[in-house]
Amino acid sequence: RIAGPCSMIMFGVTGDLARKKLIPAIYDLANRGLLPPGFALVGFARQDFGNGTFASMIKAAAKAGARTEWSETVWKQLAAGIRFVPGQFDDDAAWKQLAETLAELDRDQGTGGNHAFYLSIPPGLFPTVVSKIKQHGLATSTEGWRRVVIEKPFGHDLASAKELNRLVGDVFERSSVFRIDHYLGKETVQNILALRFANGMFEPVWNSHYVDHVQITMAEDIGIGSRAGYYDGIGAARDIIQNHLLQLMALTAMEEPVSFDAHSLRLEKQKILANASAPADLSKHTARGQYVAGWAGGVEVDGYLDEEGIPEDSRTETFAAMRIDIGTRRWAGVPFYLRTGKRLGRRVTEVAVVFKRAPHLPFRKHDVTELGQNALVMRIQPDEGVTLRFGSKVPGTTMEIRDVNMDFAYGGAFVESSPEAYERLILDVLLGDPPLFPQQEEVELSWKILDPVINHWRRQRTIDTYPAGTWGPRSADEMIARDGRTWRRP
Ligand code: BG6
Repeated sequence: RIAGPCSMIMFGVTGDLARKKLIPAIYDLANRGLLPPGFALVGFARQDFGNGTFASMIKAAAKAGARTEWSETVWKQLAAGIRFVPGQFDDDAAWKQLAETLAELDRDQGTGGNHAFYLSIPPGLFPTVVSKIKQHGLATSTEGWRRVVIEKPFGHDLASAKELNRLVGDVFERSSVFRIDHYLGKETVQNILALRFANGMFEPVWNSHYVDHVQITMAEDIGIGSRAGYYDGIGAARDIIQNHLLQLMALTAMEEPVSFDAHSLRLEKQKILANASAPADLSKHTARGQYVAGWAGGVEVDGYLDEEGIPEDSRTETFAAMRIDIGTRRWAGVPFYLRTGKRLGRRVTEVAVVFKRAPHLPFRKHDVTELGQNALVMRIQPDEGVTLRFGSKVPGTTMEIRDVNMDFAYGGAFVESSPEAYERLILDVLLGDPPLFPQQEEVELSWKILDPVINHWRRQRTIDTYPAGTWGPRSADEMIARDGRTWRRP
């Protein structure tokens, strides 16, 4: 799978995401020999760099973030296709220059009229950029393909997401729109499908007869850092649950697709999202919180309100948890508990399928006090793998049973190194391979699930708090305790 000749035009190329993830991913792809020799990267930004200064900035970002070894030869080849166009996004003169630059690259670099426009910019700027792409005749071509890549947030609620989809749909063909949810590019997320559908032993128990509930956790130990501008007013539910966690839920819950092509895969995910709903009683089965000063990695850290750029009366949630019910035969009565937060105890993402207890235990009560519920835990990161938790006899002369873990670790089982999520996704964009990109319908269905929760929270005057370094507000524990369950401590 090597991409053909093409150029990628990056909007927001000086931003955090481009520097930390996108540029290093492009370098790594080049280094692995997966980019065509004539690949071009064109930056469009308000700063006024010359081509040379821009290339040095790209080089610094690539060097700092690359996962593969640094090679001056690879860099020189990549640098030959790097261009910069300075200008405001609504400046027609700058767009003309962009069109000329692309034409020059088609001629001299052999990019063949194939252009991917990568929008790593705040959604408020989408309308301008997308309409200028159209106005300057860059959205379609008879010679090559045109694609647009959109970073989240895809709107801030259902109505704005629909509006955004309409806007993009006016300019680009449906099949040319690539929405990034970088979780879908992670190896371990794709392994959910491998685990479920390549094996025979999980499917028989993957339903409400055997599964008690599912817990999906995405915890981060970092705070808000320098992202106040993006994060405040958005919050944990929109930032993580609307996309990453609902996608993880859909992959865990969906039926087997007839094939792994984009259409079949999206169809099955959509069926889950269409049948999933926020809890009927939002005050009982949702929780949100904001971190206050506490500890992270042995160091004292500020609370959210003391972070740079956060208004002192902000009620943005940095922790969100909710129960979701899926109304299908397979999942009726099996709650999916989703939670995410910043400044939690540690960085971990996992999907834990927790099984019902054995219907009968032929042991003495005091021999099974340390026997919990069986669980299959798909460890997405950082300690990638799968854990099966079950009861086992404690060595000795009594029949005491205690929980043990059986672990599969990626690092131990495979010598192959896994590409970073963005490497995989950028390559898929260039190849025009769509299965890992959520479609408009999935985005809208996800907002439909979340809108009532966010509206419910908006009506509340106060927000719960939790000290940095803990596992969220007390209300999150109370929420799950109402159902007679507890959160896992990963
Ligand atoms: C992004 C969120 O989508 O995912 C960030 O906007 C979050 O707030 C990040 O920190 C986490 O990604 P990962 O791959 O480190 O789990």
